[in-house]
Parts: sequence; structure tokens; C-alpha cells
Amino acid sequence: MNEKVYLYPVWVRLWHIFNALLFLALVFTGLTLQYTSKDFTIIPFNYSISIHNYAGIILSAFYVFFLTANRWTGNGNYYQFPIKGMMERVMKQFRYYSYGIFKKEKAPFPITKKRKFNPLQKLSYVIIMYFFVPVIIITGYILLFPDLIPNRIFGMSGIHFIDLIHIIMGFVLSIFIIIHVYFCTIGKTPLSNFKSMINGWH
Ligand code: HEM
Repeated sequence: MNEKVYLYPVWVRLWHIFNALLFLALVFTGLTLQYTSKDFTIIPFNYSISIHNYAGIILSAFYVFFLTANRWTGNGNYYQFPIKGMMERVMKQFRYYSYGIFKKEKAPFPITKKRKFNPLQKLSYVIIMYFFVPVIIITGYILLFPDLIPNRIFGMSGIHFIDLIHIIMGFVLSIFIIIHVYFCTIGKTPLSNFKSMINGWH
């Protein structure tokens, strides 16, 4: 399909750019918090903590904005799908990405004004935005108030338990960013999806 469609309204683009930058700052400072030691420092530990905390709080405000705007604008509709037949659609798209695309087959779910995401994108965005992001935000806020965390959860130190979930979510989201950016390069040209996220037009 060669027709131009306006898919990314200004608010989505602004949210997305701030969200991406804040995420990158969080991944970077999260890693420095994890690996800083007496012999190895990239930025001072205290700076990493402050940047990580402020970036997390700002990101959570942007997340509330995303939820609200998705709810009140048509954009939220793109995140809904019937469960029935979902796996078949996802597998069809997966087969296309892993095989059909190299055989120059036609995309099984071309992008239109009504269908902004293919089934694989849709499923991954829903899982990321409505499960992993809220869990990392909630565990992050809990870690800001360690005194409120019970001493023991499931037989292990409460702080370590919450921290472990937070780190696992951070790890999954970091992997998501890499896969996400890679898939964004599979457009009409390697840069076309990035241009769409800048000017709004697909
Ligand atoms: C280096 C960082 C990133 C880059 C370069 C990037 C790039 C892009 C591009 C080009 C699109 C439009 C194509 C598409 O819809 O698939 C997009 C959409 C999207 N990205 Fe990212 N992204 C980044 C980080 C993130 C992060 C950290 C998240 C969330 C945790 C995220 C979530 C989304 C979502 C939900 C959409 C669809 C938005 C909508 O139209 O409703 N992105 N991204």
C-alpha cells in the first residue's frame, strides 16, 4: 500500500520521544547502580541514584499521560484485539518476519488507518505497556520507600524480592528496546518507520 496515512498524532510522538529517552537514561543508570564498585565507576553512585529516581518518577508521570490519552483518544483502539484467533494471526506475522519477508512475499497484515499495528506488534506493545511497564514502575516506587517493605516475602528478604522483580523487568524491557528498534528498521526502507515517528505519517 503506497497511500500515506497519518498514524502518529503529536501527543504520541512527544510521549514516545520522552519515554524512549527516559528509558535509555534508566537503563544506563540502572546498570551503573548494579556494577559500580570501589574499582569501577562510570558516574558517581549518588548521581546515578538521583538520575535514576528522577527519571523513573518523570517516566511514571508520562506513563499516566499515555494511559489517559490512549483511553480518551482513538489511539487506545489500536491496542485492542479479539483473543479468538490471536495466536494464529501472531504466528502468521512471525512466519512472515522469519521467512516470507526474505522471499519478498506480501505482508499478511498491511498497515492501514484502521490497523496501525500488525498482530505481533500489537501483542508485544500490549504486554509491554500494560504489564511490564506498570510492574517496573510499581516496584520502583516500592523501592523508594524501603521501610514499608515487609522483612520477608516468600522466604527471602523483602527488599531483595522486590529488587529482583524490578531488575528482571528492567532486563526484559532492555531486550524489548533492542528487538523493538530492530523491527522498526523493517519498513519500506530501514529509516521509514523512524521518519513516521517524527512526522506522524506512515
Ligand atoms: C531507542 C529507543 C526507541 C526507538 C528508536 C523507538 C522507535 C519506535 C518507532 C520508529 C515506532 C513507530 C513504528 C511502530 O509503531 O512500530 C515506535 C512505536 C512505539 N514504541 Fe518505540 N522506540 C524506542 C523506545 C521505546 C520504548 C522504551 C518503549 C516502551 C517501553 C516504546 C514503545 C513504543 C510503542 C508503544 C509504540 C507504538 C506507539 C503508538 O503509536 O501508539 N518504544 N517506536
